[in-house]
Amino acid sequence: MTRFTVNNQPVQYRMDPQTPLLWALRDASNLTGTKYGCGRGDCGACTVIVDGEAVRSCTVTIAQLEGSFVTTIEALSRDRSHAVQQAWAAENVPQCGYCQSGMIMAAAVLLDKNPNPTDADIDAAITNICPCGTYPRIRRAIRHAAG
Ligand code: FES
Repeated sequence: MTRFTVNNQPVQYRMDPQTPLLWALRDASNLTGTKYGCGRGDCGACTVIVDGEAVRSCTVTIAQLEGSFVTTIEALSRDRSHAVQQAWAAENVPQCGYCQSGMIMAAAVLLDKNPNPTDADIDAAITNICPCGTYPRIRRAIRHAAG
């Protein structure tokens, strides 16, 4: 059985070890802020943070996560006041909102690694897809969070 940590809680899923992390989070842990979009690593709706990296949770199995630290949107901040979440609200980023938790997780990792990203850095790091086309507001929010 694979053991790792989700949002600072140890987890042991009694599921097929080949289960994608996305489904363990949603179905076993009831962490439904992580969204299913394409299921093949293209859209980024399922992005979570694994050991400090933005990871598309549909592309990793729970067997691959032994000893890892996983953070989902539910625990990015205890009171939803993470700088990225504040900036998302201030810039009124979401349209339908479906892809935004993945966007926020990717943005949080970007800013953790690069506190003052250029637009080119943002475009290189945020490859998630937003069918509503909120990309200009996403860039503004990331610059806003960077301060
Ligand atoms: Fe994982 Fe689209 S659902 S990348």
